[in-house]
Amino acid sequence: MRARGWIGGIIGAAVVIAGGGYAAIGWYPAIDPVSRPDPAGFEPEVVERGETLAGVGACAVCHTAEGSASFAGGLALETPFGTVHSSNITPDPDTGIGDWSFEAFRRSMREGVSRSGAHLYPVFPYTHFARVTNDDLRAIYAFLMSQEPVEATPEPNNLQFPTNFRPLLAGWKFLFHDAEPFTPNPDRSEAWNRGAYLSEGLGHCSVCHSPLNRFGAVVESELYAGGSAEGWHAPALNEDSPAPAPWGDLAMVNYLLDGWDLDHGIAAGPMQPVVDHLRGLSDDDVFAMAEYFLSLQGDPEEGARDRAIEFAETRQFGGGGEERIAQLPEQAQQGAEVFEDVCVNCHRAASDTVPLGLTTTVNMPDPRNVIHIVLDGIEAPAGSPNKSMRAFATSVNDEELADLLVFMRAQFTERAPWSDIEAAIAEVRGDG
Ligand code: HEC
Ligand code: HEC
Ligand code: HEC
Repeated sequence: MRARGWIGGIIGAAVVIAGGGYAAIGWYPAIDPVSRPDPAGFEPEVVERGETLAGVGACAVCHTAEGSASFAGGLALETPFGTVHSSNITPDPDTGIGDWSFEAFRRSMREGVSRSGAHLYPVFPYTHFARVTNDDLRAIYAFLMSQEPVEATPEPNNLQFPTNFRPLLAGWKFLFHDAEPFTPNPDRSEAWNRGAYLSEGLGHCSVCHSPLNRFGAVVESELYAGGSAEGWHAPALNEDSPAPAPWGDLAMVNYLLDGWDLDHGIAAGPMQPVVDHLRGLSDDDVFAMAEYFLSLQGDPEEGARDRAIEFAETRQFGGGGEERIAQLPEQAQQGAEVFEDVCVNCHRAASDTVPLGLTTTVNMPDPRNVIHIVLDGIEAPAGSPNKSMRAFATSVNDEELADLLVFMRAQFTERAPWSDIEAAIAEVRGDG
């Protein structure tokens, strides 16, 4: 798993520390260990709510290594400077958080500080978890403390000097971390505020969906203008959204709960575990998140959805789209042949797939998601178990794939051709 490039910021932050800020802001005491709270002491409803909230926070996604127990940690998060391993957050007293009081847990989530007082790397998105209310943190704590304790010590981090020196994180936090809880916006509806609270707090949606500055922190002035995650593009969710059909609330709710929507397509790659963990949320909460994101996108133009659908349908094979292919440049025509050979069975008019021209993937500013999807296929999201696609990594070579991408961009959208296709293919192949 590839984390975003925050580590550069640590080096920059060293400057701040040298400036003398460290002594005042950087030191936290250890919090005394406690004996593990008895799970029977937590209300079952609270534990259940904690489970849903932990899902929204995708705790299991980062705190579970392949083939190991949930929450036992050890997942390697790769950064340009080395590897950070997630912690064991099961209630094992020796290797997990079994001896953490609620106060120690709350402090880690708000301030990114371990029980020992050590600073934690911001790959752990406490920059967002800081917004979460004490009440919700208590529910997550109750849920985690009710899990099976698992004895497991993650491998040590493997970071280059000086990023391996945790005290330097004090400087990073001084610059980029605001530990304040969420403050509702009184000019907005209750649902909007609920959606903003879930998305900006536990959901930490902006970490992937926004550009990061060179210190690895979200650029607040470009919130939701599109970012990247694990070699995928995470599309803009604000007024720059590349989706051809404007998002409506039902479409967004379908996408977030089922991982698929008729007007936009599939949630693949790093978005899929996000979606698979939102499933415990009530419909009201998911509609609230949709209200929040739609407010960032502004009012759609009249008739935009109908125009997008009509355009996409007429460009499909079997929808009339064959006619114009003879006029496309040569590389695109070669791509059209590959498409006809291997893709058209599932991607033509009257098939069960979303017309490719309607999908955000084909309309994005970079081709990496389509490349990942063609090479690795799509595992069906939990909410749409029939939506899977096989992998073509061994049956489509790089040249065919490049042709295919040129063709798809020329046929299914009116956006400018993708640039640097070969480099993007090499990057994705290299990622494995
Ligand atoms: C994007 C990945 C990611 C997500 C999502 C995530 N964590 Fe973590 N978490 C980490 C990493 C990596 C560390 C270790 C950081 C370090 O060593 O400095 C960590 C550390 C922690 C720690 C500190 C443990 C210790 O021993 O110091 C706690 C507590 C924690 N996470 C709880 C949670 C909870 C609760 C959630 C869900 C609400 C969550 N995390 C979601 C990556 C993540
Ligand atoms: C780990 C990174 C990551 C996080 C966290 C994340 N997303 Fe995503 N998201 C992605 C990626 C990557 C895609 C593109 C998926 C694809 O192409 O199939 C995506 C796609 C989407 C889309 C579809 C956009 C479109 O126009 O097609 C929506 C909506 C969305 N995410 C909402 C959210 C919300 C809401 C949250 C927070 C609860 C969130 N995302 C958190 C990475 C992330
Ligand atoms: C056996 C059926 C099948 C074949 C063959 C197939 N696909 Fe797919 N493809 C799917 C399904 C199912 C989905 C996900 C559902 C959807 O998009 O409606 C999908 C999704 C996609 C997406 C993502 C669209 C989105 O929703 O964001 C792209 C891009 C794509 N396919 C391209 C291709 C290309 C290129 C080929 C040929 C190399 C191909 N597919 C071959 C079934 C197939």
